[in-house]
Amino acid sequence: KAKLLSDYRSPEFTIDQIDLTIELEPQATRVTSVMQVRRQGRHNNPLVLEGEQLQLQSVAIDGRMLDATGYSQTDTHLTIAEVGDAFELNIVVMINPQANTSLEGLYLSDGAFCTQCEAEGFRKITYYLDRPDVLARFTTTIIGDASQFPFMLSNGNQVAKQQLDDGRTAVTWQDPFPKPCYLFALVAGDFDLLEDSFQTMSGRHVTLQLFVDKGNLDRADYAMASLKNAMAWDEQVYGLEYDLDIYMVVAVDFFNMGAMENKGLNVFNSKYVLANARSATDQDFNGIESVIGHEYFHNWTGNRVTCRDWFQLSLKEGLTVFRDQCFSEDMTGSAVNRIDDVAIIRSHQFAEDAGPMAHPIRPQSVIEMNNFYTVTVYNKGAEVIRMMHTLLGADGFRRGMDLYFERHDGQAVTCDDFVQAMEDANAFDLSRFRTWYQQAGTPEVSVTDHYNAETQTYTLNFSQQTPATADQSDKTATHIPLRIGLYDDTGAAIPLNTEAKLTDGNVYSLLTESASVTFDHVKTAPTPALLKGFSAPIKLNYQYSDVQLLTLAQHCEDGFTRWDAIQSLLARYIWQIADGETSTLPQNIIDGVLAIASDGEIEAALKARLLQLPTVNGLVNQRQQIDIHPLLNALDVIREQLASALYDCCLALYQQLQQPDYQLDAESIAKRSLSASCLGWIAAANPPAADQLCVALYNNSDNMTEQLNALTIANRFDLASRNSLMDQFEQRWQDDGLVMDKWLNLQGCWNSEQCFGNLAKVEGKPFFKLTNPNRARSLIAGFSAMNYRYFHAQDGSGYQWLAEKIQNLNSINPQIAARLINPLTQWRKFTAPQADQMKAQLEQIYQLSDLSKDLQEIVGKSLGH
Ligand code: ARG
Ligand code: ZN
Repeated sequence: KAKLLSDYRSPEFTIDQIDLTIELEPQATRVTSVMQVRRQGRHNNPLVLEGEQLQLQSVAIDGRMLDATGYSQTDTHLTIAEVGDAFELNIVVMINPQANTSLEGLYLSDGAFCTQCEAEGFRKITYYLDRPDVLARFTTTIIGDASQFPFMLSNGNQVAKQQLDDGRTAVTWQDPFPKPCYLFALVAGDFDLLEDSFQTMSGRHVTLQLFVDKGNLDRADYAMASLKNAMAWDEQVYGLEYDLDIYMVVAVDFFNMGAMENKGLNVFNSKYVLANARSATDQDFNGIESVIGHEYFHNWTGNRVTCRDWFQLSLKEGLTVFRDQCFSEDMTGSAVNRIDDVAIIRSHQFAEDAGPMAHPIRPQSVIEMNNFYTVTVYNKGAEVIRMMHTLLGADGFRRGMDLYFERHDGQAVTCDDFVQAMEDANAFDLSRFRTWYQQAGTPEVSVTDHYNAETQTYTLNFSQQTPATADQSDKTATHIPLRIGLYDDTGAAIPLNTEAKLTDGNVYSLLTESASVTFDHVKTAPTPALLKGFSAPIKLNYQYSDVQLLTLAQHCEDGFTRWDAIQSLLARYIWQIADGETSTLPQNIIDGVLAIASDGEIEAALKARLLQLPTVNGLVNQRQQIDIHPLLNALDVIREQLASALYDCCLALYQQLQQPDYQLDAESIAKRSLSASCLGWIAAANPPAADQLCVALYNNSDNMTEQLNALTIANRFDLASRNSLMDQFEQRWQDDGLVMDKWLNLQGCWNSEQCFGNLAKVEGKPFFKLTNPNRARSLIAGFSAMNYRYFHAQDGSGYQWLAEKIQNLNSINPQIAARLINPLTQWRKFTAPQADQMKAQLEQIYQLSDLSKDLQEIVGKSLGH
């Protein structure tokens, strides 16, 4: 069943042109396609098209109808035996969008028609060569009732609109750029429209259109502003200009992922479009900026140059995530973006590497492609691109990008083609670096050092090793860029002198299993920072003393290193407490954290990060096997100890941080973030005091960020007013699904013994629908990925609850089921009885008679089948 990267063959036929006519009808949409097909190379093989859940009406070649002997059909393919070298193929099928709850192909979202074709959804619309290396020019005619569907949209430019005799309207769109079918899109519905325009650097005018559900225009401005910023940024940083006269974005409520970069017609999860101060948090605004940027940047990295096959997904996704991360960094001008990006790698990507679904950023074997839209392909993929940026420098990286577009514009290419362009443009050897594309797993670098006082030299000895992963046992050394800094006891940076070559910014290339580097003119034994800016997605082992970590935490100029030092210190004692080796945090560490909290020089956004406790996920990834409850208890011990030390300081800071009115600039956002962190520490030290503050904050503020901060803390610490605040919120927002997602998430992670009975109540609410991915995810992941204590309840009831949801979702929406089952698939990480209870639930799911391919792959791998 699995497809292999090594089995890739170039297509035997290609399609140069497709004219689609789509007659919209909720339960019976007729799709007529007229394709110009051409044989590739010399062979006599039949034409084999992909197609699923289609009712075939007719097949004709060059105007001649085929009878049933002319073709054969299976559930997944249509085979036409006798075809010429170049011909016109005409196929008519019927489909049922209303019955399509998988949200892949053509479906209905709250009465509007929309599509999602990536990766392999186009085959649910018509028979086609559904692979990214077949690039065709698309013309699309949409026929429907214009009163019901005032907007009928597809890729490219609208070229015709006419009233048909039967009263229906036909709208024709033409996309001048050849594209793979995964970039096809169609939307039909009634929307409010926000329109704007952008003048490109060469002076062309682009019309920008944002379509939102009726009544939501007051939530569309930020997305539009972000789009214009993204267009300008790509011109400035990469010299890349938009290429059509119109750019459309449609926000829909039913959407599996974040958004989709269809040529000229992006379809977005409304979560990443709709926002105003009353209904959205600072984090929501950030999400919009990055996803709007991400989809826009795909126009070049993804659409103009696309993937040869789906194993190459990281070619466009890793690169585009890297681009959207840089965009956000430039927009906010803050170091904390990097910390937040690293936290995702450490808490989620490292877990994937250590789990049953481990795969390289370019996977080698796939059963269901939708299962590979992962944090590995996306976020580790972005780290791999970032490492090239680090090694080549900004200018070198830009030279590589220019060469990549010069060579490959209009083509479907591989990750190797990208690395080759970087290599050739800079005459820089990336042969060892390519290992990152072939090898799964998190490399571990161990470092020892030696200071020679006599010669005033300091030597670092490195060794690297990548542990075996579920998919591969043999690993080789890879190219690891380590950004290094040395500090003296006062925290002052020591200039680096070395005969060994460090590239710009003091980056050392570790290329072999072991290596060392010596620095001279080092006057005292230094404290090393070895992975500044998280210069590689690895685990780094060096035996720091507590004092060294405190030095880095207090003095390093690199925000990530400061944060990392505190995280390491706290993790060290959390584990010692969990293991029963100690019961308290040493006083000098408490003092160190307090010094940071009261340091007036530290920027608020960074301070908020520096005061974070390590996350449970991050901690879980530091060990082979976890006894979860002692770990959770140890976290509570540390939290309480720190909280009582920080109490006075946080209370004072909290008062000081209150802002007279709401602004959305970086400084105000930073203050809100630090003030939330202070409120958390206050709650851990003194619940009644926090309760009063939460009630006041909730009632006195007019913005969602602060109101949700109040609610989150009341919920986390189960404060006295928790229920009444939750009720108030429900009363106010119950008709707004997107806002109620926040409430559903809080219900999921309610830290209370009542949470089980409560989940059942919440599932019965009219605004909760398992068919809506945002609703399902908010509640289900809120519980199973954030509510550790109750998800891992001793009697296994948490696992059972999740398993029930997964069984329902299996038939409704396999993609969402496959994502939400993730916490159970990590069962091998946990000790008994948890491991056995989790495994038992997986075994039951595996027995489902209608088990989807998506779940079959993931559950099968996690059970070792
Ligand atoms: N290309 C889209 C993006 O990253 C994601 C589409 C994922 N779709 C899917 N069915 N897995 O912007
Ligand atoms: Zn993407």
